[in-house]
Amino acid sequence: MLPGRKDFPEGFLFGTATSSYQIEGHRFGGAGPTHWDSFAATPGNVARAENGAVACDHYHRWAEDLDLVADAGFDLYRFSTSWARVMPEGRGAVNAEGLDFYDRLVDGMLERGIKPALTLYHWEMPSALADLGGWRNRDVAQWFAEFTQVIARRLGDRIWSAAPINEPWCVGWLSHFLGAHAPGLRDIRATARAMHHVLLAHGQAISVMRAEGMGNLGAVCNFEYAHPADATPEAAAAARLYDAYYNRFFVEGMMLGRYPDEVLDGFAPHLPEGWQDDFATIRAPLDWFGLNYYTCKRIAPCGGPWPAHREVEGPLPKTDMGWEIYPEGLHAFLTRVARDYTGALPLYVTENGMAAPDALADGTCADAGRIAYYAEHLEACRRAIAEGVPLAGYMSWSLLDNYEWALGYDKRFGLVHVDFETLKRSPKASWHAWARALEH
Ligand code: NOJ
Repeated sequence: MLPGRKDFPEGFLFGTATSSYQIEGHRFGGAGPTHWDSFAATPGNVARAENGAVACDHYHRWAEDLDLVADAGFDLYRFSTSWARVMPEGRGAVNAEGLDFYDRLVDGMLERGIKPALTLYHWEMPSALADLGGWRNRDVAQWFAEFTQVIARRLGDRIWSAAPINEPWCVGWLSHFLGAHAPGLRDIRATARAMHHVLLAHGQAISVMRAEGMGNLGAVCNFEYAHPADATPEAAAAARLYDAYYNRFFVEGMMLGRYPDEVLDGFAPHLPEGWQDDFATIRAPLDWFGLNYYTCKRIAPCGGPWPAHREVEGPLPKTDMGWEIYPEGLHAFLTRVARDYTGALPLYVTENGMAAPDALADGTCADAGRIAYYAEHLEACRRAIAEGVPLAGYMSWSLLDNYEWALGYDKRFGLVHVDFETLKRSPKASWHAWARALEH
């Protein structure tokens, strides 16, 4: 059983989320190549070298997918626009077919009474721009502003909310320091620059959307609770550093116009000259703030260059991603973000969910573990609300089983099972649980 509408304040919004590259089928509709296509084609980067060429074929099946959103009773649908679908070279020429697709999609949401919650960038950088250095190149902020303007002019009149960039930490650290996502770099200088440029692009995009008359603009950052692996002061310091570059860097840049000292210890020599001046752009006022939350980590110190720490295995039950289930972390971040950074600004949980090795039996899937995961995290939300946190909505990840990036298609996060041979959609027990919880 999931807590439902009656358990949340009047007007609290429920939604579900996806992203363009993970579901659309990038091969269709005249989209240009992206750095995820080339990253996936390089052996060793992605499980079974899978890519988003076909994915869930949402490009052709979008109407059926929006019916699944509406029939479950969700108020919001969080989706993203693929830069390379709209501008195959990243700049200049617009692919009318690509823009038309998003136009139909947004109209399709409105026709079904679903509020469109737009994310402009969910990780697939057009190859033409990646070849120029992508997020390492300061010009990315200007390129992204041009893309933002194209989207704002075409969709801006019908969008309910918009955020420029999904999970800046993944765009920066995961992709440029850990090398786990495209472009697969392991370089501290690239990381510092990418993390700063992501924020610059965020701020500039917010200003572009405002200038185009759009409202309800926000940000979507990911948070992971950092436990020290043991009781030593060294482990405490390691967890503090993890927390600083993961959980504080972006929100402090956007909301306070500063970076944590612990991160500057490693980043200072690598940030672009005059980086402090960019906070005037980065701190563009926001209307809401979104948190993506999944898990916690156990952090231990280790030898080697900054940041000199490692993750060790924790004791809690884990999802199919190997991620510990820790709803207390969501409660902790909601209260902390509101207290330290966002004050009265509405907060949204913009992603939360779990992967499970779901198999179909009799046309459905008994994903009781996922229902329990959602129930526990919704309880954490209710506790935060009871303590005064202005949480205004919650979005599950994800509507569909989809392309889980470097892990390919066998990590299933969906409320709806997708057979990747036939592309048939089958609602799981968790979809039905949401439908019951959201009945009016
Ligand atoms: C966060 C990302 O935004 C999304 O793309 C991903 O699939 C989920 N986390 C699960 O890892």
